[in-house]
Amino acid sequence: MNREQVLQELKAIIEEYWSKENQSNVVNYVPAFELEKKENWSLNAPHHEQEILKDIEKYLHYAVRTEHPYFMNQLFGGFDLASWVGETIAALTNTSMATYEIAPLGSILEKTLIKKLNTMIGFRTLDNPGEGIMLTGGSNANLVAMLCARQKKFPKMKKEGLAGKKLSLFVSQDSHYSFSKNALVMGLGTNSVIKVAVDKKGQMLPEALEKEIRHSQERGEEPFFVCATAGTTVWGAFDPIKELLPIAKNHQLWFHIDGAWGGAAILSERFSFLLEGCEEADSFAWDIHKLMSASLISSFFLCRHSGILRETNSLTEGSYIFHEYENTSYDMGPYSLQCGRKVDSLGAWLAWRHHGDEGYQKMIDHLGELASYLVEKINRTPQLELIREPPFLNVCFRILDSLGKHNQLNLKVRQKLIETGTAMINYYSDKGVVFFRLILTNPQVKKCDLDQLLTKIIDMAE
Ligand SMILES: Cc1ncc(COP(=O)(O)O)c(C=O)c1O
Repeated sequence: MNREQVLQELKAIIEEYWSKENQSNVVNYVPAFELEKKENWSLNAPHHEQEILKDIEKYLHYAVRTEHPYFMNQLFGGFDLASWVGETIAALTNTSMATYEIAPLGSILEKTLIKKLNTMIGFRTLDNPGEGIMLTGGSNANLVAMLCARQKKFPKMKKEGLAGKKLSLFVSQDSHYSFSKNALVMGLGTNSVIKVAVDKKGQMLPEALEKEIRHSQERGEEPFFVCATAGTTVWGAFDPIKELLPIAKNHQLWFHIDGAWGGAAILSERFSFLLEGCEEADSFAWDIHKLMSASLISSFFLCRHSGILRETNSLTEGSYIFHEYENTSYDMGPYSLQCGRKVDSLGAWLAWRHHGDEGYQKMIDHLGELASYLVEKINRTPQLELIREPPFLNVCFRILDSLGKHNQLNLKVRQKLIETGTAMINYYSDKGVVFFRLILTNPQVKKCDLDQLLTKIIDMAE
């Protein structure tokens, strides 16, 4: 088959996939051990294009439909056409973001996005440009934040390593696990991550932070980093930036905001107050593939200080790729931990160009309205119990069992929802209580979808 024929066939397959969007199951669930054996997935013999197209149909058959209104399992979901087109074209042109030379417009668009995001959060002002980089996800953005913080406080560590020093960093008890992973990667040891207590709303307690920093100093450790989470993974809580920041500054610690999930709140009339004071932070992580429905991965590390990213990540090696030429300042490679890097900027840029600030504001405010609607509905439904008033778009609730076996019932219903392809909603267990963590991130979801979903859940429980 030539390219034209493959394209025609592929178009038909995609159209078929899209045509089923709302009627189909969220997933055609098959347990892993069965799927592995279901067919011959081996790589030994060559396969003709027709067979490859059949493989694609199989892939789509088993794929989880993350654009389905009842995919509420993760902090991403929905489908953004402009972003998808961008991803597809980026794959078509198949290059790396290392240098301007091989990714001319990709580099310009990434810089444009970074300027835009830095302006939104207040890092970029008339006399301060700010800087940033796209990377492989919020976890990686948090890693780069930790590396920049270490570079600022201990510049010699870039060459000499830890040299016997015990570093410590402070995150909320409910922060994302990436900080422990990053401590592991940086050789700090996971014990270096100090989990600060939170209040009943899941917000880090300023007095607990102060106490933990002092205790760490008393143990002879070297504190270097504080992170406020803007939208915790389970509860959607926002740590109080304005109260935490002065504590970090007082102790001369880098202040990072993990806005991987909640960064987009800055665009919303309803939620932007949750990020008040963020312009004074040192760095910020923001995944627009989460709340803003861009294709995975569209992730940013943003920094108020110009120069630190290059200072942290650049090496004297790599002269075979990084040259002095008229476009050197547009080469993104020296700012990145990666060498080869996909062009993520095209999809993200096209999506923003399509929606504009106003489109995103409406999108997030609509999701906020859905959250309030759902909470009200749960509170009015005797079979359901709201676990905690949601500060954002994470709605945590459980089904009540007349026999009192609440945990078993909730787990069973969740599993059945997946096995029947009805819905995918994640769960969490806090202090022995199992509950659904329903995420509102797909802007296509409507109130009637939520009505029907709750009915399905209750029917299944019964
Ligand atoms: C608060 C928070 N930070 C960071 C991350 C990691 O983001 P990513 O999955 O893009 O690495 C997540 C993921 O859910 C998150 O919830």
